[in-house]
Amino acid sequence: MTSYKIAILDGDGIGPEIMAEAIKILSLVAERNDINFELMPAPFGATAYFSHGHSFPEETKAICDEADAILKGPIGLSHEESKKIPVDMQPERGALLPLRRRYNTFANFRPVFLPKGLAHFSPLKPEIIGEGIDFIIIRELVGGLYFGKKETGINEDGKRFVNETLEYDEDQIKRIAKVAFNTAQKRKKVLHNIHKSNVLKSSVLWNEVIGEVAEDYPDVEVKHILVDAAATYLCLNPGQFDVMVMENMFGDILSDQGGGILGSLGLMPSACIGPKKAYYEPSHGSAPDIAGQSIANPYSMIGSVAMMLEMSFDMEDEAKKVWYAMQSVFAQGYSTPDLSKPGADVNMISTDGFGDLVATELAKQ
Ligand code: NAD
Ligand code: IPM
Ligand code: MN
Repeated sequence: MTSYKIAILDGDGIGPEIMAEAIKILSLVAERNDINFELMPAPFGATAYFSHGHSFPEETKAICDEADAILKGPIGLSHEESKKIPVDMQPERGALLPLRRRYNTFANFRPVFLPKGLAHFSPLKPEIIGEGIDFIIIRELVGGLYFGKKETGINEDGKRFVNETLEYDEDQIKRIAKVAFNTAQKRKKVLHNIHKSNVLKSSVLWNEVIGEVAEDYPDVEVKHILVDAAATYLCLNPGQFDVMVMENMFGDILSDQGGGILGSLGLMPSACIGPKKAYYEPSHGSAPDIAGQSIANPYSMIGSVAMMLEMSFDMEDEAKKVWYAMQSVFAQGYSTPDLSKPGADVNMISTDGFGDLVATELAKQ
């Protein structure tokens, strides 16, 4: 029997609630494919900080090292609660960025997808949505401002100062560019390169390297768009995009805007791929405002499972069935509270209600 080890990092806030639904689906997939997924739960995030004194404990590192893939829930606390943890130990700086660095997960895939039949979830008008929303953001995940040199202190004038640098070398740009071109080749052969070369020297180098890599992909058309304009086009004409590539910080911001035009961040799964290891997580955070109420949308977490099935375990058909099952639950008129206003003509369901219906739907296929 094929066997895979999966590290399970529940995380904080809504993390455990949506992870429970992801595991429900994963177990069903294991059963019907005669595969053994060995699930290895491990503490991670603020919860781990309070229980183990570190948000990325050594035992969790060992489990992740051993795993074939890592499934991660969102981490983080509310603005106020965060202050209970020293700045460098907070789960973003103390766990998530170290996880990305440890496995060099430079390629972050954030699909932004809404079929036409679910267009009512989007705040955009039907005439803007057209046939639905379907593009993918490829975000560089281990460079730029997030990982550049940082310095804080008191300057010569006695003023507090901070200095953080946006760093890339050509190899880092080249490898994410290749991932983006390969993805574009498999889709519509159009790549939108998002940059800010009118101001940032980092974008000048970025664009230079994109141009060099483009020579190996003559069948892919490259379109260059400044990041500020891209933010507008995402609202006014998202249909023009198919594959978008960008540096770390731009990708953080525009991918949340992607969630916005779908109608909820709860529809945003993601894959973070490194040379030897990949981990999968929703693009959104721990949603402290709704944690513990069983109203979070687990689509992002189950979608991350689908991405793991496809990208780590070569189970593309099964992944497609998981996507289809989730979308057909919504198409039957069900909705989680994030996607519909009170009074809307929908059948409102809870986090586990959605998971159960997806499992039932998947079992039919
Ligand atoms: P957030 O993404 O947690 O929430 C933003 C809004 O989206 C909230 O209204 C929330 O209720 C809603 N939302 C998010 N996911 C949802 C879901 N699955 N179903 C329904 N609604 C959902 O962003 P935030 O509030 O700015 O951040 C909260 C914490 O999460 C912070 O500590 C932040 O650092 C952290 N964070 C972690 C990750 C990660 O683990 N990769 C990503 C983003 C933010
Ligand atoms: C994301 C998150 C993270 C990021 C934070 C929590 C460090 O917002 O995955 O989008 O900025 O990359
Ligand atoms: Mn983000």
